[in-house]
This record gives sequence, C-alpha cells and structure tokens, in this order.
Amino acid sequence: MTDSHRAVDTEPTVRVLYTAMQIGARVREMGLEIARDLPSTRPLFVGVLKGACMFQCDLARATPLEVDLDFLSVSSYGQGTTSSGTVHIINDLRGDVAGRHVVLCEGVVDSGLTLSNVLELLRDRGAASLRVATLLDKAPCRKVAVPLNYVGWKIGSDFVVGYGLDVNERYRNLPYVGVLEES
Ligand code: IMP
Ligand code: MG
Repeated sequence: MTDSHRAVDTEPTVRVLYTAMQIGARVREMGLEIARDLPSTRPLFVGVLKGACMFQCDLARATPLEVDLDFLSVSSYGQGTTSSGTVHIINDLRGDVAGRHVVLCEGVVDSGLTLSNVLELLRDRGAASLRVATLLDKAPCRKVAVPLNYVGWKIGSDFVVGYGLDVNERYRNLPYVGVLEES
C-alpha cells in the first residue's frame, strides 16, 4: 500500500443527522407551507449558492405554484469553517427583484451575517415581500438577528455537510446531511 492509500484511513467519517428520506418529507411540508402563504402569486426563489442548490431546487418542486428561480453567489468564509463577517457578491442575480415576492433559500444559517447582507440587498432592490427558507438553523451560532420564515430543523453548532453543504468544496453531493467526525 502506498502512502496516498494510507491517507484514506484518516479520512473523517460523516455521522448522518437527517436522511434523504427525512429531508424529502420535511422539504415537501415546507413547499406546501410556502404555497399556503403566497396564494395566487408567482414567487421568485433566490438561492444562495452553492450551499442552497439542492434545497432550493427540491423546495421549488415541492411548491405547487409557478415559481421562478434565480441565484446569487456570495462568499463569506473562504476556506475556513468560521465566518469572516464580510460578504462579497461573486455572481449577481440575473433578473429583477423589484415588485417580486421573494423567497430567499439558504442551506444553513450560522452567524446570520450572510443572510442579513443578502436581505438588505434584496430589500434595497424593491422586493414586494421577502421571506427566508433555510433547511438548517444553527440558532446557537447567531450573531445578528435574522427573520426565518421556514426552517427545516434547528440544530446545534456542529459543522454539517451534505445536501449542498460543503467543507472546502467537499461532500456537497451527499444525499443526506451529516456531521464530520474524525475516524
Ligand atoms: P453565516 O453568514 O455565518 O450565517 O453563514 C452562512 C454560510 O456559511 C452558509 O451559507 C454556508 O455556506 C456556510 N456555513 C455555515 N455553517 C456551515 C456548516 O455547518 N456547514 C457548511 N457550511 C456552513
Ligand atoms: Mg461552504
């Protein structure tokens, strides 16, 4: 066995928090809730890339309304796992927000800094209404208060991966959400 093979032995393992089936069921409930709150509208689902990608698309499919999709790419963390507090827009939305009923989709809200920056931006651009949907709410980590309308689950402060969420770009395509553990 070569050294590079041996390195695999020290790979972290992922302890499952929410299975694909649990996520599917919860996201379907959230989609129905959004449709109940926004009857006879055509909401704009704005996803904060890349972490929200899976959640946003599943949520849109679970919402029995005509829904538009747009995407915003921001960076607040760089390579690390704690927030730097500064949000940069890497890729802006393609479309107009003015007059739209916006549902901002996030994978996880941690300090709330990313979200509060993005919400301010969307408010400034004249959204008719602004709601936030997040799969996970790391409530104990909050540094700034942010209004969350739809929350999949409240969790603790563990760093989670999967279903769009990464650490250094890894684990995004896991169909479940889990916590990294050293093996
Ligand atoms: P906040 O600005 O501190 O609320 O962080 C929000 C962003 O940080 C999310 O959109 C994620 O990209 C990333 N993030 C925060 N916590 C986690 C985590 O536990 N796993 C993966 N990404 C996270
Ligand atoms: Mg990340």
